Amino acid sequence: MTEMIYDVPAAWAKKAWANDAKYKKMYAASIKDPDKFWGEQGKRIDWFKPYSKVRNASYKPGKVAIKWFEDGTTNVAYNCVDRHLATRAKQTAIIWEGDDPSESKKISYGQLYTEVCKFANVLKAKGVKKGDRVTIYLPMIPEAAYAMLACARIGAIHSVVFGGFSPDSLASRVEDSDSKIVITADEGLRGGRAVPLKKNVDAADDKVKGGIGTVIVVKRTGGHVTMKEGRDVWYHEEAAKASGHCPPVEMKAEDPLFLLYTSGSTGKPKGVLHTTAGYLVYTAITHQYVFDYHEGDVYWCTADVGWVTGHSYILYGPLANGATTLMFEGIPTYPTISRFWEVIDKHKVNTFYTAPTAIRSLMGAGEEPVKKTKRKSLRLLGSVGEPINPEAWEWYHRVVGERRCPIVDTWWQTETGGILITPLPGATKLKPGSATRPFFGVKPEIVDAEGKVLEGACEGNLVIAESWPGQMRTVYGDHKRFEETYFATYPNKYFTGDGCRRDADGYYWITGRVDDVINVSGHRMGTAEVESALVAHPSVSEAAVVGYPHDIKGQGIYAYVTLMAGETPTEALRKDLVAYVRKEIGPIASPDLIQFAPGLPKTRSGKIMRRILRKIAEDEFGALGDTSTLADPAVVDDLIANRQNKR
Ligand code: PRX
Repeated sequence: MTEMIYDVPAAWAKKAWANDAKYKKMYAASIKDPDKFWGEQGKRIDWFKPYSKVRNASYKPGKVAIKWFEDGTTNVAYNCVDRHLATRAKQTAIIWEGDDPSESKKISYGQLYTEVCKFANVLKAKGVKKGDRVTIYLPMIPEAAYAMLACARIGAIHSVVFGGFSPDSLASRVEDSDSKIVITADEGLRGGRAVPLKKNVDAADDKVKGGIGTVIVVKRTGGHVTMKEGRDVWYHEEAAKASGHCPPVEMKAEDPLFLLYTSGSTGKPKGVLHTTAGYLVYTAITHQYVFDYHEGDVYWCTADVGWVTGHSYILYGPLANGATTLMFEGIPTYPTISRFWEVIDKHKVNTFYTAPTAIRSLMGAGEEPVKKTKRKSLRLLGSVGEPINPEAWEWYHRVVGERRCPIVDTWWQTETGGILITPLPGATKLKPGSATRPFFGVKPEIVDAEGKVLEGACEGNLVIAESWPGQMRTVYGDHKRFEETYFATYPNKYFTGDGCRRDADGYYWITGRVDDVINVSGHRMGTAEVESALVAHPSVSEAAVVGYPHDIKGQGIYAYVTLMAGETPTEALRKDLVAYVRKEIGPIASPDLIQFAPGLPKTRSGKIMRRILRKIAEDEFGALGDTSTLADPAVVDDLIANRQNKR
């Protein structure tokens, strides 16, 4: 099959921040002299005290330490709000589009200043100080942005927990971060259905050693909640007493900004820690160049603020640049399957950034729901979170963007803080399915299993050779885990956990995770987490979870379950197990398929051979490879015979 290549439209090459020649020049300069490049880029934010040092990063085994702009001081909320007031007080900072299309509002930079200051004063009144952790468990409402920026303003470290997570997941994050305060809402609203956030917080309280602390409740739906005396307060009552001014706290460049829990291949989710200045510089520069942001653009990223994409590209990057950022409470299919496109027309959105899973599910409904909208304002499309298959890419390009909008397929991770591999719309020829080329200052390498750096066209594991300012600094409370997870596999390099191919043009093609992390509808999950939820069920003796290709979700969750002696595999039990995992982790972790397996393929030393389970789940049992080291090769035949049907 010939590879499709899409040229940069002439108008884009002319007006964009970077054309191909400029990209190449800037990229080369950023790699040749990173101190000079980032030394200049650091000036894109305002400093209270300027920096004299730029980069101080070591990936040395046992001594991993990453610092950027370390002797400067600044404040993230000041940069995202206050510094725009002189010129943009009346400009819209946030367009909020509610779940119900009749509800939307615009928040100017001037209003954002007042709201953030009020929220900051409420937190202060509740005893929150610099360095304290604050858990935010909110739906997609403007208060989520106010609360995050309020933390940044007073130097508190926010830890946003996605509203789809269960009380157990919330409790373990509260406990790990040792947070003493939770900000939540009475209920969230998604697709016309209420999400019982406050109730979940109540349920989590019992599970946290020493309790969950103070709970600030934002009134969103007015649904019934029970307020616990001495623990719970209404946000609107506290805000009514608070001043609309609050001075931003002077923060060191390397003071923590936030924690965000993410899944790894082993153990419990880890608290990824990002710090102040490097993160902001990196999200601001990537937002400008990748989305070719120009003054006046209306920019919409459909992520939830509970994920890193929401942090970096709904909030911090766009607001640092003084942009108008759209925040959407609802879902793509409510009240109609045209909702995304209707919102684009309603708010004249220029740049639209979403996940492949959304594209694939909307693609299933055909072209008509898209075509009945105009989308005249659209200029640029983006994709994030998982590999986008060429069919979905082509549909996005042809139907949604009417062939005139470039697509930026952006590869990055919670750990990277911002986009690392991506096209620039005025510079990069596009190949559907490829994240194309590295961003400024990013030095990707492809290594083989032994760590040998491969040259030219090749396939292997993706590592990043040098530090960039947006990089995570540590795993909260566990620097050793940070070093072991990211810097031990290939010494002196950051290991991404992704497989990758590089073609003859130097384009990068992410092939997916090479560890036990799966990506379900763009949500990242550790198979170990799902397994531990399953084995907590009284009927289950053992469980092994793998991913399998899923038409809409990218990957689905396939669980092999061995029952306790005496238990009978029934449909009712299968349903019960799915419900159990939903309760333990949250709906995003629901297994799609459960196979009752009398035995799992193990080596003689008792290690489960997941490679075999993966192949069976993928229906590729012709390619099982060597099974001779199995303790009991016969289990494989049973697994193949009883595999679950994907359709
Ligand atoms: O496997 C890669 C995949 O998502 C992982 C990171 O997940 P998370 O930390 O949740 O962050 C998602 C949003 C940045 C990566 O290791 N991934 C992300 N973007 C892409 C991708 N895979 C292919 N193409 C992408 N554009």
